[in-house]
Amino acid sequence: LQNSAASGPLAGKKVIVTAGGTVERIDPVRYISNDSSGKMGFALARAARAMGAEVTLIAARTDEKPPQDPDIKVVRVESAQEMYEAVAGRWKACDILIKAAAVADYRPKQSAPSKIKKSGETMTLELVKTTDILESLGKMKDKQFLIGFAAETGNAEAFAKDKLVRKNLDLIVANDVAAEGAGFGTDTNIVSIYGAEGLVLDLPLVSKDEVARRLLGLAAERIAGAAL
Ligand code: CTP
Ligand code: CA
Repeated sequence: LQNSAASGPLAGKKVIVTAGGTVERIDPVRYISNDSSGKMGFALARAARAMGAEVTLIAARTDEKPPQDPDIKVVRVESAQEMYEAVAGRWKACDILIKAAAVADYRPKQSAPSKIKKSGETMTLELVKTTDILESLGKMKDKQFLIGFAAETGNAEAFAKDKLVRKNLDLIVANDVAAEGAGFGTDTNIVSIYGAEGLVLDLPLVSKDEVARRLLGLAAERIAGAAL
């Protein structure tokens, strides 16, 4: 426990980071997911810890193992619904929530209990909307500082600003996932960070670790400012 009484700009703050892509089961061996690698969320968890925060990492499917740091609590989840429950259950005590996870927007209406056998020439999967985790929590916000991500493939600024307002976020990180060196799977990212007042920070191609440090630095600054 040598680091438990940590110092740093986020000392004493409870930070929740979600990472990876949710898995929405069709049957026990098949699912719907997405290309999220988990790297951005892992970088955020490590950076928050390095800044003194008490970190919980809620990870869905990822390409790599989450950080093996005794000071980062890792909770594994599969679906959007499980992620929602894991975050909602920790919401009251949370100071900063960062939703770097790529959450499925739709899930199969039914998840078959046993492997589906092939039959006809075509097959139709009926999908239903998942809970929007950020939007639900944005409605229950008191002291919490909420940060969302917006993975876009064009017109990122307009879409990101719309999500910031709709989900009652404090900051949103827009990344153009179609750009070289940015988005899913890479170790680098190109992001623009927006607040209610507009563009806050434009970062060129930098490591996801650097994006994480800069984003958490902004959050720490704003929380300290609000407390004055
Ligand atoms: N998000 C969430 N719950 C969902 C869907 C998204 O909490 N069911 C969060 C993501 O973790 C991310 C932010 O909302 O931080 C924006 O996700 P994004 O997919 O870009 O936005 P959507 O609102 O789902 O809109 P769309 O996919 O249509 O662009
Ligand atoms: Ca979405």
